[in-house]
Amino acid sequence: MSKFFINGGKKLRGEVEIESAKNALLPILSACNLIDGKVVLHKVPAFSDVIAMLDVLKHLGAKVEWQDDSVTIDMTSPKRHDVPVELASKARASIYMLGPILARNKIAKVAYPGGCEIGLRPIDLHLSGMGALGAKVVEKNGYIYCNGANMKGGDVILNFPSVGATENIIMASVLTKGRTRIFNCAKEPEIVDLQNFLNACGAKVYNAGCGVIEIEGVDRLNGCEYQTISDRIITGTYMLACAMTGGEITLKNVDPSHNQALISKLLNSSCQIHIKNDIIKMKANGRAKAFGELETAVYPGFPTDLQAQAMALQCVSDGTSMIVENLFEARFKHIPELIKMGGDISFRDRVCVVRGKSKLYGADVFAHDLRGGASLVMAGLVAEGYTTISNIQLIDRGYFKLEHTLTALGADIKRIED
Ligand code: EPZ
Repeated sequence: MSKFFINGGKKLRGEVEIESAKNALLPILSACNLIDGKVVLHKVPAFSDVIAMLDVLKHLGAKVEWQDDSVTIDMTSPKRHDVPVELASKARASIYMLGPILARNKIAKVAYPGGCEIGLRPIDLHLSGMGALGAKVVEKNGYIYCNGANMKGGDVILNFPSVGATENIIMASVLTKGRTRIFNCAKEPEIVDLQNFLNACGAKVYNAGCGVIEIEGVDRLNGCEYQTISDRIITGTYMLACAMTGGEITLKNVDPSHNQALISKLLNSSCQIHIKNDIIKMKANGRAKAFGELETAVYPGFPTDLQAQAMALQCVSDGTSMIVENLFEARFKHIPELIKMGGDISFRDRVCVVRGKSKLYGADVFAHDLRGGASLVMAGLVAEGYTTISNIQLIDRGYFKLEHTLTALGADIKRIED
């Protein structure tokens, strides 16, 4: 199993080009099930979650070809309508295949995606959404069976603005006759990107990101060429790492409007941030001031996917912070690992208190989930001495060649095979 080996104490300095967003790519890859033609996606990083989704598409009958960092997916003739457990368990986002498989084939059989490390990750909102469109949904022996023979457009009311459920319902309705409206839907930028991709293929999806999403069903969708938005969570991770190491970095190919919650926190903690078009220049001004209060929320609130990374920064900031994780019930697994490195953190349920220290110390730590693992890398970058991080395949799910990028920014980090 590979590990990261980090020698801490180096400031991050230099430029980094942010890659395409994992959480935009995964639903768009699922949406390729809907397309009667070739889709070419450009600048696709080989995140392991992306590879897992491409494996599902191949299982379903897609022809998949890579050309440098572009990937062509041709689902002109789907062969199957099932996602078996051995494929579904590899990526949580496999549940996003349900809606498009059902819409294209009028039948679907998808294994549960399995709970992720950060919580139970129920899918009740996905299934009730399919039901609201007239699909017959049966759960049996770890599989979801859907029959879409009588599906028609209708109103779907989400009792929580779930990102995945919103995306699944959009994909289930683009080929379903009639008008569908999704109330209380999620407003994340990745959903706007999915709308833009589907409309580039001939769909009729409106208001993503700003209100009640409306979809007019169409008969078929053609192929297209597309490049997704850049990854706002990777952008935020590097910004927090820069603040933590006292560095100075330039981030390119970003959409600053996607990181407003984080930018306001960093400006208030004495970082200098200059924004121009798709470039963010950032300089830490000595030791960061503690954020004070931080609550994760649905977009445009502070993203849960940056909670662990923000906590790592609070461990070395000047002052005390309270962090509340409102989205997932088990997203504090990085705390014991940060404590091993000298973090002064106490927590109960979804609330934790971090008392900033002037120093962290290298240790052998374990990544329990993707973003918690990223927070340990950040802590290793500033810790005195050597840090070894195990289970880093979880980090590879959402960061592509992280050690290369950090090395180019001046960090002393290596991937070692155990
Ligand atoms: C997406 O997950 C992201 N993943 C997550 O990023 C992100 O943390 C999350 O949205 C919130 O922003 C992808 O886009 C692939 P949700 P998703 O459905 O769709 C509850 C990362 O690190 N819920 O918005 O699973 C759920 O339990 C990953 O890149 C239900 O109750 O998130 C949670 O408490 C981690 N029933 C809350 O909603 C449902 O049917 C938010 O979940 C669905 C969700």
